[in-house]
Amino acid sequence: MDTNPLRDTFRMHRVPGPCAVVIFGGLGDLAGRKLVPALYNLYLRRLLPAGFAMVGVGRRDATDTEYRAEMRERCARFSRTPVTDAEWEGFEELLHWVGGTFDATETYTTLARRLEEIGVARGTAGNVMFYLSVPPSQFPVIVDGLGDSGLAREEPGRFRRAVIEKPFGHDLPSSAALDAEVHRAFKESQVFRIDHYLGKETVQNILVFRFANGIFEPVWNRNFIDHVQITVSESIGVEGRGKFYEEAGALRDIVQNHMLQVLSFVAMEPPSSFDAEAVRDERGKALASCRPLLPSDVVRGQYSAGFSDGDAAKGYRNEDGVAPGSDVETYIAARLMIDNWRWADTPFYLRTGKRLPKRVTEVAIQFKRVPHLPFSYAAAEQLEPNVLVLRIQPNEGISLRFGAKVPSERVQIRTVNMDFQYDTAFSAAPAEAYETLLLDAMRGDGTNFPRQDAVNQSWRIVEPLQESWTRLGGGPHLYEAGSWGPEAADELLARDRRRWRRP
Ligand SMILES: NC(=O)c1ccc[n+]([C@@H]2O[C@H](COP(=O)([O-])OP(=O)(O)OC[C@H]3O[C@@H](n4cnc5c(N)ncnc54)[C@H](OP(=O)(O)O)[C@@H]3O)[C@@H](O)[C@H]2O)c1
Repeated sequence: MDTNPLRDTFRMHRVPGPCAVVIFGGLGDLAGRKLVPALYNLYLRRLLPAGFAMVGVGRRDATDTEYRAEMRERCARFSRTPVTDAEWEGFEELLHWVGGTFDATETYTTLARRLEEIGVARGTAGNVMFYLSVPPSQFPVIVDGLGDSGLAREEPGRFRRAVIEKPFGHDLPSSAALDAEVHRAFKESQVFRIDHYLGKETVQNILVFRFANGIFEPVWNRNFIDHVQITVSESIGVEGRGKFYEEAGALRDIVQNHMLQVLSFVAMEPPSSFDAEAVRDERGKALASCRPLLPSDVVRGQYSAGFSDGDAAKGYRNEDGVAPGSDVETYIAARLMIDNWRWADTPFYLRTGKRLPKRVTEVAIQFKRVPHLPFSYAAAEQLEPNVLVLRIQPNEGISLRFGAKVPSERVQIRTVNMDFQYDTAFSAAPAEAYETLLLDAMRGDGTNFPRQDAVNQSWRIVEPLQESWTRLGGGPHLYEAGSWGPEAADELLARDRRRWRRP
């Protein structure tokens, strides 16, 4: 009996050529929670190449057998499909472990030797993708190790790639420094920067929705669109990651990367092809047209004690790892303007926060009202503007709100929803973002990875805020856990005679 629930789905994908994937930090949180489960699911989907191996690297002294046992446990907890004995046996053969610290030359000598042996045994053809699943402080030392040992060097017919996890620096200068560091060993074409939002089906579908349909693009501009709202709200708090969050805050954790990347999909011009560079050129240009965010256009907030999902929730300052007087923002609302012909005078409102009433990521395009309404005020009292909502997660789908006549003998208009849902339209569940991105990187397709120019642009956009907050101080507005954020965020839109949606 076939125990593989994913076989035969996603036949459209191309299987990559032979390669080995090396995960630095192979026993870390991300590797065990996302990366190895993603590889396991690719294996189940028969999307790993016949010549494939994975090598974890980290300071723990472990055998291949011990590593496989630990990964089985993590996959059992985190894989989106259950781990079965029959499938795991085949998969675990592909996993290997190399113990060593990242700053020791010996680690790279051992890794090179193991890659040679494993390459011959598994037929990986000398192709290697190095995934840096480690804290950013370790990036330079690993890149140097790979450069000095010759492991980063490509030869004809043999690729070497580096995949790096966000954060890409913590401001413009540090991002540029990191970039220079990475380029000491790797060319730009070898580098894949992960922003896992770009691996989401629903984000990728924004391009299909816009550029594969004739009816939306003609109205996708300042003449028809009143404004855009992008919301990334979470109901959870910092969940034990207080120490990490103290250094990031909502601006660096969500706005600078995920939100601005999503915005670039919504705002970009049509690319001439779906070629990676053509798409990334247009996304880069959209970000280059964004005005830097000024403190007067931004509200930052921090959650205080309240209720979340019916339970009492403590305030941010009482979370583990958080300084008692911390001024780090857990909420941002911003008004962003794009200076180009398509979007001039059309605000993009961005909002993200923790401990908000629900988990939702969506892009809402609000259209202008009709120039003249030939109905009485009473008939159209409940009519709202047309809104197109792209739901990125959960309940992935797209809906359009429009006015309809309430069935009765008189004219009365009410706003109704036309809805498309992924799970009912397609039988297959969407893949996890990391599955898509690992596969793309193995295939050398950079479309869904931000290029350095886009990273630089997004730091440029948030730079005035970082500077002003450091220079002038002043804390965030407090908002109660379980609320939709500080009142000042409502005032930000009220100034423009608009208001936030309640998703
Ligand atoms: N976790 C997530 O959900 C998530 C989400 C988005 C992005 N990221 C990014 O992904 C990267 C990895 O995050 P993570 O949460 O997986 O970190 P992590 O749990 O700290 O994992 C890092 C791993 O690297 C090992 N390591 C660290 N320094 C080392 C050294 N000098 N020599 C040898 N091994 C060393 C650690 O070993 P020990 O176990 O011995 O300390 C650990 O296993 C970070 O850049 C993070 O920002 C993570």
